[in-house]
Amino acid sequence: MRFNRFASSIAGLAVVSAMVASAAAEPIPRIERRDDRFMLLVDGKPYFVLAAQLHNSSAWPAMLPEAWRAAEALAPNTIEVPIYWEQFEAQKGRFDTTNVDALIAKARETGKRLVFLWFGTWKNGQMHYVPEWVKGDPARYPRTIDERGLPTDVLSPHSQANLDADRSAYTALLAHLKKVDGERHTVIMVQVENEPGAIGAVRDHGAEAEAAFRATVPAAVTTRLGKAPGDWRTVFGPDADEAFNAWATARYIEQIAAAGKAVYPLPTYVNVWMRYKGFSRPGGDYPSGGATWNMFDVWRSVTPSIDFIGTDVYTSDAAEYRKVLGQYARADNPSWVSETGFDPKIAPYLFYVLNHGGIGFSVFGIDDAKGPTTDAAAAAHRVNFALLDPIRDLIARGGFDHRLQAVVEEPGQARQTIPLADGWRVDVAFGPPAWGDTPAIVPNSPEQTGRAFVLAMNDGSFLVSGVDARLEFKRVSSDGRRGQLMRVEEGRFVDGAWQVSRWLNGDETDFGLNFGHEPRLLRVRVAPL
Ligand code: DGJ
Repeated sequence: MRFNRFASSIAGLAVVSAMVASAAAEPIPRIERRDDRFMLLVDGKPYFVLAAQLHNSSAWPAMLPEAWRAAEALAPNTIEVPIYWEQFEAQKGRFDTTNVDALIAKARETGKRLVFLWFGTWKNGQMHYVPEWVKGDPARYPRTIDERGLPTDVLSPHSQANLDADRSAYTALLAHLKKVDGERHTVIMVQVENEPGAIGAVRDHGAEAEAAFRATVPAAVTTRLGKAPGDWRTVFGPDADEAFNAWATARYIEQIAAAGKAVYPLPTYVNVWMRYKGFSRPGGDYPSGGATWNMFDVWRSVTPSIDFIGTDVYTSDAAEYRKVLGQYARADNPSWVSETGFDPKIAPYLFYVLNHGGIGFSVFGIDDAKGPTTDAAAAAHRVNFALLDPIRDLIARGGFDHRLQAVVEEPGQARQTIPLADGWRVDVAFGPPAWGDTPAIVPNSPEQTGRAFVLAMNDGSFLVSGVDARLEFKRVSSDGRRGQLMRVEEGRFVDGAWQVSRWLNGDETDFGLNFGHEPRLLRVRVAPL
């Protein structure tokens, strides 16, 4: 009896301490989905990723002080860093966590989150980051064979040995992360592989691949695409080779992602070398078999463990940027710029992602040599990041709830309109703000730097901001009543609470709400006259 009472009080203590432990540990980062929108939650709170990605060869301990200094110039909340298979497993079966641990330590020291980029079987449609013991043993770790029968610089996605080797390293990485970061979540997402697909061949012509190419297309693919059963050539016609390689590549990466998630289920995505800018030759202009827009559904038919597909967008043409983001912002995929150019012209395009209610935006190669171009790029992206990071939870949640809208200046579109509910709209005129009336015809700003957003808050007010933009609230309701500004507050959010620094009125509101290059937030209340 006494023993039993003692035992039950021990059991009670164990329950209490388990409860304390679970209350203390933050939940693992995860993706929440509702209808056509997705939201990343970090420590249980909505999180919009504002990231800087280090150059490919910068994720070494010796490089971190300089690389971090450059990254911090952008005021990012997250840093994306490659993890090199060739370093992590230089000797087969022996995992070296030196780089991983240094990255986590540096991020914690500087209050940044990390996204890990697994440079494994694929890096830009090639195999340059596989360990030497893989590169040097093609008999055991076979290559993709091109149509002439020659090996390429790409591992075959049809080889079990290749898959087993990569999967074992990737799961070791996730197991280590769970051990050292399972409570802190410094690392919030993983990108599995980098711009996968094949450069130098449209598909593998090795013996195993040839047999699979002649077989019936898996039902998962034909069902998703609404196609009748048949072999690859019959089902996909001239696109059969690319579709086959997309399926093989996606299926291989799915198995790696699934194994990683079984160990430690971080949000997981893949990035894409896009089919855009007139690129049309798979295997030449872009890696064949990546999740390009024309292969998106093939990919999604076999990748349940991949949360979403990111976009690596390197164009400073606003219309093209908008178009490719539109191709990937779908009911089954959020907008996520996994890489973009470290270029001042590209900074406004972050607002396209806001308009899609996306996951975030990551600027590539920020640890460049110093110079005026680098400084201009850092300054342009910093304006966005400094403005948005203090409200990263509000914009992530607002996008998820369809309460966030944004516009970007484009050539010939110096004036745009954001429609709101109840007959309200916001007229946006781009250009460096000038005090006084808006001219009837607004020219574009010299460098087309304009962007603006409007976030409808749950209390009926609007949070607004922008760069090189003038915003005017207008009421155009059929009841004929015009609108008025009730209050315009300038302020900032501190620990989630709105702190007002002043009320704007008179010259600061009579000619619209004007935004220059300073990160500036206004909270606006309007009502019919
Ligand atoms: C896209 C790749 O994913 C990056 O690792 C890097 O190679 C850039 N291209 C360079 O433009």
